[in-house]
Amino acid sequence: MTKEWLGGTTIFAEMSALAVRTGAINLGQGFPDTDGPEEVREAAVRALREGKGNQYPPGPGVPELRTAIAEHQLKRYGLAHDPDTEVLVTAGATEAIAAALLALVESGDEVIALEPYYDSYAACIGMAGGTRVPVTLHPRNGAYHLDLDELRDAVTDRTRLILLNTPHNPTGTVLTREELAAVAELAVERDLLVVTDEVYEHLVFEGEHIPLASFPGMRERTLTISSAGKTFSFTGWKVGWVTGTPELVTAVRSAKQFLTYVASGPFQYAIAEALRLPESYFEGLRADLRAKRDLLSAGLAAAGFEVYRPAGTYFVTTDIRPLGESDGFAFCRALPERCGVVAVPNAVFYDHQKQGAPFVRFAFCKRTGVLEEAVSRLRGL
Ligand SMILES: Cc1ncc(COP(=O)(O)O)c(C=O)c1O
Repeated sequence: MTKEWLGGTTIFAEMSALAVRTGAINLGQGFPDTDGPEEVREAAVRALREGKGNQYPPGPGVPELRTAIAEHQLKRYGLAHDPDTEVLVTAGATEAIAAALLALVESGDEVIALEPYYDSYAACIGMAGGTRVPVTLHPRNGAYHLDLDELRDAVTDRTRLILLNTPHNPTGTVLTREELAAVAELAVERDLLVVTDEVYEHLVFEGEHIPLASFPGMRERTLTISSAGKTFSFTGWKVGWVTGTPELVTAVRSAKQFLTYVASGPFQYAIAEALRLPESYFEGLRADLRAKRDLLSAGLAAAGFEVYRPAGTYFVTTDIRPLGESDGFAFCRALPERCGVVAVPNAVFYDHQKQGAPFVRFAFCKRTGVLEEAVSRLRGL
């Protein structure tokens, strides 16, 4: 595998820089434009003041956070984990993905990932010496769908693991119980590991989030990854985590100790408190983002885009062909000048770039006024 990520910057960095240069509204990169709950921010300040986490925290993460993560998995999904051996705190989900792949993938192993995929997947599979095998989600009737036969056909004798992501960035697809059951059956039948990226677990507007680890035969072969960034609107704190069997978690920890070793000391204490926020917080977040999804989706449709209204995440994918365009890269590079809005071309999330060419992603994790202004600018198209 060539080091195709060397020397490049991510599309998010390029588009965010373009937003700054042109003064455009940045709906490219997925970060909120307001911070998360005040009490969580205060918890971080308290931790800093009380000297909690200002020095290297324990390698696996502070016990308070590991316990809170285990409680979260048990309360919400009925998944019991020993906080000492089955939970690992990482520098965001990004490090969890990297460490998991470095730990589990040997040179030449194949890794199946749902395409379009989050950009770090391709780089990390490459860094681990693996070969990525994309299984493409297909746009149909206003949503993206996983073709289970294609997934089955992608498995070979060299397949080491499936790298799953639900709710799915950038398409907003939330895999259904039936789809997840089929993935689970396949993994058991072919004796595959699954690394599942569930960072948008709390951002589901239609359907429900079901962790793959909760399906029969999956607990022992699944590493579940999540993070606080999206759920609590503190993407800069980089607090993520992995849950799984002691063997799998130990493997990830072995790789992780030579990446960052540890990170985010005081923030770990704050996120331990955040995970115990009352249900009203999680409901409020969902309701707020659902309204924003509807606002931006309606605005994009009115501007002439074909809209794939997401069932989850805070991204909406659009097809630009109804606007007489077909090249998402060119469209996104021109959009700030044309109407003062930044989006990202979905082609960056594809190996089969042609399949992604006419699609463009907008983030709606922004203040309502900002989204209203963006919608009004997009009307100019
Ligand atoms: C699917 C997916 N996984 C992981 C991440 C990164 O999470 P973190 O900020 O916790 O590293 C993102 C961020 O956009 C994402 O979309």
